[in-house]
Amino acid sequence: MNIKNNKILILDFGSQFTQLIARRIREAGVYCEVWPWDVDFALIGGFNPKGLILSGGPESVHLDDGPKVNGQVFDLGIPVFGICYGMQVIAHHFGGTVIPSDEKEFGYAHVQLKNDSQLLDGIFDEKAGQLDVWMSHGDKVDVMPEGFYVTSSSATAPVTSFENNQSTVFGIQFHAEVSHTTQGKKIFDRFLFDICGCEKLWKTDNIIETHVENVKKIAGNDKVLLGLSGGVDSSVVAALLHQAIGDQLVCVFVDTGLLRYKEGDQVMETMAEGMDIHVIRVNAQQMYYEALKGEEDPEAKRKIIGNLFIKIFEEEARKLDNVKWLAQGTIYPDVIESAASATGKSHVIKSHHNVGGLPADMELQLLEPLRDLFKDEVRKMGVALGLPKAMVYRHPFPGPGLGVRILGEVKQHYAEILAKADHIFITELVKWDLYDKTSQAFAVFLPVKSVGVVGDARRYEYVIALRAVETIDFMTARWAHLPYKFLEHVSTRIINEIDKVSRVVYDISSKPPATIEWE
Ligand code: XMP
Repeated sequence: MNIKNNKILILDFGSQFTQLIARRIREAGVYCEVWPWDVDFALIGGFNPKGLILSGGPESVHLDDGPKVNGQVFDLGIPVFGICYGMQVIAHHFGGTVIPSDEKEFGYAHVQLKNDSQLLDGIFDEKAGQLDVWMSHGDKVDVMPEGFYVTSSSATAPVTSFENNQSTVFGIQFHAEVSHTTQGKKIFDRFLFDICGCEKLWKTDNIIETHVENVKKIAGNDKVLLGLSGGVDSSVVAALLHQAIGDQLVCVFVDTGLLRYKEGDQVMETMAEGMDIHVIRVNAQQMYYEALKGEEDPEAKRKIIGNLFIKIFEEEARKLDNVKWLAQGTIYPDVIESAASATGKSHVIKSHHNVGGLPADMELQLLEPLRDLFKDEVRKMGVALGLPKAMVYRHPFPGPGLGVRILGEVKQHYAEILAKADHIFITELVKWDLYDKTSQAFAVFLPVKSVGVVGDARRYEYVIALRAVETIDFMTARWAHLPYKFLEHVSTRIINEIDKVSRVVYDISSKPPATIEWE
């Protein structure tokens, strides 16, 4: 079975929601890819999609330099579906007019069904003929394109969706991909299954089976090297490769002394003992503390930590015989972002070295088995491959680890205090059922001395800051409004259980202007 046999292509006009469209389609069980809007037309034909989606975007199609669609896509004989800017692009191409709205429309809107619609019939509330949707646009369709008719409108916009007389080209002004559009999933299902005739083939079991087969074909009898970090992506790569090629996989796990509490032992327990994966553990804690001695600058610390990782990883790689491949946990958003940022124009996909440590003279070839998967797909795959749920659904952890959560100079005893405080915070978040309600939570070590009274004596000890945020994309974030009772409990535990901490504070800064990490 080729699970990519029926697939959808999304041409990206730059909307912040383009990846969300792709995720909705994949969740529905259909494979799709995101390519830049101006990709060479020959590649589109070669991709052979069953349907095409034109995404939203921030520009204005009525301006000379506003991105336009290559009209040849309408001759492919496949359905085309424009969302927001994508709809305006269709209107413009077929001779309609798009003009700036008097006011930018942003947020919830009610739209009314106006005519029969192949895309929307039965999706509107039958009685009221109404649909709650989410809008975000500054331009609107003013004069309809020839051969199209209006299928819905709102109080402020006479054209909130349209389709052509042959029911092969569709446009909606609202965003069906965001969860605020309550019937969004149904709209995608209608397009994918009823209009494009796709089958649901893109499911976790099928994805694993196909990826295991691919890895077997690519690697053959060769050995594959993987840098294991303890994070989700590299752990899932390890589990997948192990399933495919067993002992031909060799993992190197570098314990930097800047990981989460007892993380080194846990990685060995889960991967080496639990799953029987060949993992070489390098205890490099002292090398890291030594290398970071005296360094206070956050960016310099990041460089030291990154470079040392590469050096250690290379040294370990050189000890192994016959390794031909270096595996990496590159995932699809990395691929989309490097394609978009390469020139902003063409479909050139750079290889994304998110682990680093490819010794140039060893001539290892790159194996990136997750490069067509979104994070939620990687997680589902990880659980299905037997990784613990708690590991797979863990909050993100920065590459430099505690190195950027100890402000200023890194010292071993700071790292030990911080790991313990962080562990208490995280364990309690889980116990109080708050962990999944925050997107990222951690403790920060402040190397300042603050007074505390223990017995009758005044002691000057360190301060721990707690940080917890809610965010969707990590670009903006709101500080998590954790209950006072919970914060009180965590603070008491940290001060009582960890020597050398006299004070705990909670960070109530949102991003922007504050970043999520403190350094
Ligand atoms: P900021 O602090 O920039 O963090 O608001 C946004 C997200 O990025 C993570 N982060 C890093 N991840 N190396 C990483 O791998 C880094 O140097 C780094 N700095 C920040 C941060 O944890 C958050 O999820």
